[in-house]
Amino acid sequence: MSSVSTSMLVAAATVQRARGDPGAEDAAIARACLRLCGDRSPGLLSLVDSAPGRILLALLERLLLPGLRAHYAWRKRRIAQWAGQACTDGSAQLLLIGAGYDGLGCALARRHPDLHVFELDREVSVAIKRRALEQLGLHPPRLHLLATDLMHADPLATLRDCNEFDAARPTLCVAEGVLMYLSWPQARALLSRLARELASPAIVATAMETRDGLPGFRREHAWVRPWLRRRGEPFLWGCDRTELPALLGACGLRLQALADPAEPGDPDPSPGEWLFLAQRIGASGAAPPH
Ligand SMILES: C[S@@+](CC[C@H](N)C(=O)[O-])C[C@H]1O[C@@H](n2cnc3c(N)ncnc32)[C@H](O)[C@@H]1O
Repeated sequence: MSSVSTSMLVAAATVQRARGDPGAEDAAIARACLRLCGDRSPGLLSLVDSAPGRILLALLERLLLPGLRAHYAWRKRRIAQWAGQACTDGSAQLLLIGAGYDGLGCALARRHPDLHVFELDREVSVAIKRRALEQLGLHPPRLHLLATDLMHADPLATLRDCNEFDAARPTLCVAEGVLMYLSWPQARALLSRLARELASPAIVATAMETRDGLPGFRREHAWVRPWLRRRGEPFLWGCDRTELPALLGACGLRLQALADPAEPGDPDPSPGEWLFLAQRIGASGAAPPH
């Protein structure tokens, strides 16, 4: 499994969640991306597509990180709701940082005819997504896939090089499942620049919780950390819930809403990743979405 990336796991969960709904576009995108991911993806897809394979995946999940796929669904539901609300409330640009094989950008580009969507990810992931969308015949005219390395390049410069990007427009930035791969100084620099250089930014992001000083899911098995390290995707940064407002404050942002992992009736199936909405300090924010 060491050549299966976390973005492939998220995509496989999306494919599995949509079983029985052949029209689900996010699953079609995830499946097309997985097919292009290389050696391990046919194996992963055949597990998702067969009953014995799904039993094996469920057993592995129960052993290594119970509730992970349902956690992805939990966080994606909330992000889709917050992002949809932000677009209705006047965001003119959507910036998906570390977008991976997610279909939210395509969905919102179609639903909001004036919205410009910018997806940032590593070159290899962007190339796969671009080919997958071509194969599916999906060409949302205002969807821009841009390659960058958040650790070693300047993502704001990448955006400014794109003629359609306009820092003066109200922009919703979504960093789902990606800030944990940056060190805190790198994450702080990115968030601070978004807060400073965009005229009217709102930020939806996730950050890992820390346990004994280490970022991770509450129920993850001891094997998960070494597996992520071997994959080249170690979690580098996390924080306690109580630290989040001050950390965001250091980036010029104010915490506006935090998804409650213990929400009555809809708790996070695998807690350990904070999901929050933030605005620039001083911005007159709309009421937090529910
Ligand atoms: C766990 S996946 C999440 C994908 C997507 N946001 C989702 O939740 O469905 C993490 C994504 O962040 C991207 N990523 C991680 N580190 C990155 C870096 N240094 N530069 C650019 N992208 C990065 C990966 O390529 C991957 O697509």
